[in-house]
Amino acid sequence: SVKKRVVSGVQPTGSVHLGNYLGAIKNWVALQDTYETLFIIVDHHAITLPYDTRQLGKATTDTAALYLACGIDVSKASVFVQSHVPAHVELMWLLCSSTPIGWLQKMIQFKEKSRKEGVENASVGLFTYPDLMTADILLYQSDFVPVGEDQKQHIELAREIAQRVNHLYGGKKWKKLGGRGGSLFKIPEPLIPQAGARVMSLTDGLSKMSKSAPSDQSRINLLDSKDLIVDKIKRCKTDSFAGLEFDNAERPECNNLLSIYQIVSGKKKEEVMEECKDMSWGTFKPLLADALIEHLSPIQARYQEIIAEPEYLDKILSEGADRAEELGAVTMRNMYQAMGY
Ligand code: ADP
Ligand code: NA
Repeated sequence: SVKKRVVSGVQPTGSVHLGNYLGAIKNWVALQDTYETLFIIVDHHAITLPYDTRQLGKATTDTAALYLACGIDVSKASVFVQSHVPAHVELMWLLCSSTPIGWLQKMIQFKEKSRKEGVENASVGLFTYPDLMTADILLYQSDFVPVGEDQKQHIELAREIAQRVNHLYGGKKWKKLGGRGGSLFKIPEPLIPQAGARVMSLTDGLSKMSKSAPSDQSRINLLDSKDLIVDKIKRCKTDSFAGLEFDNAERPECNNLLSIYQIVSGKKKEEVMEECKDMSWGTFKPLLADALIEHLSPIQARYQEIIAEPEYLDKILSEGADRAEELGAVTMRNMYQAMGY
């Protein structure tokens, strides 16, 4: 039987944070048994905004080690670095010629990320990033892409590009060129979790927790020390309502912190509601900090073990890249044939 395929990734920009973990990585772990999974450290995406060249390599290694520390099992999943498989960029180029500029101009993330420098100064790489992400997905004929809410629009774009390429180059045209005909690409579907899909900043309840936010206080990084976690939770933004509750639109911070608590404690939403409804922030914050520390400590311990054995990690990444290259080569052969090269 052929397993359906799942592909996803995280950019090695700064530190992996709780949003990446709850929105993406934690959910990947549950998919490994059912699907053929490929988890990528997408380093080409990390250079689209100004970045520190001394940090990129380290962040790439750290992100890979964290995938494993969070429970990605390389006897089941392929873990690799995007730049180790050149076909990502190659396919991106082919997809760019089938992407109307107007489609990219609608991307919310580009609008947000280019706001600071202005559109004229933003890099072409930042603008075409969705085509690279589309290539990451389509190269492996992915069925599902487990991501956080913020990536929904990019997956929608990937679907539209796949359909367009299938229409432009697939089917009878491809058959006439000696191909098998039919679809060049599978149409991927997003997998967005029920809880944790949009973890918010700790300093304002309205923007998402992000690696690119200037304040480190706004996020919990997976590798933050116990003291730092306690401190960040102690200082995080709250409100002056009495008691705690989910889903009150006037209390985004409260909903965010309760949701984080719910996931890391492994409790049901109703249990958390019952446990916390009469609590003050002064009672809840230490509870949340403890739950976070308890959840993250084993991950941090495994991370330390993995990072202490760089040869092991290199071997994993090299095997992952070999597997990815083999799968991607099929798509590239078909694409070149169908496009008449
Ligand atoms: P960032 O936006 O922090 O740079 P990436 O772009 O590398 O993170 O995203 C990696 C994965 O983490 C994606 O699946 C994305 O949807 C998810 N993700 C990022 N931030 C959050 C968040 N605040 N809440 C939930 N998921 C998130
Ligand atoms: Na993102």
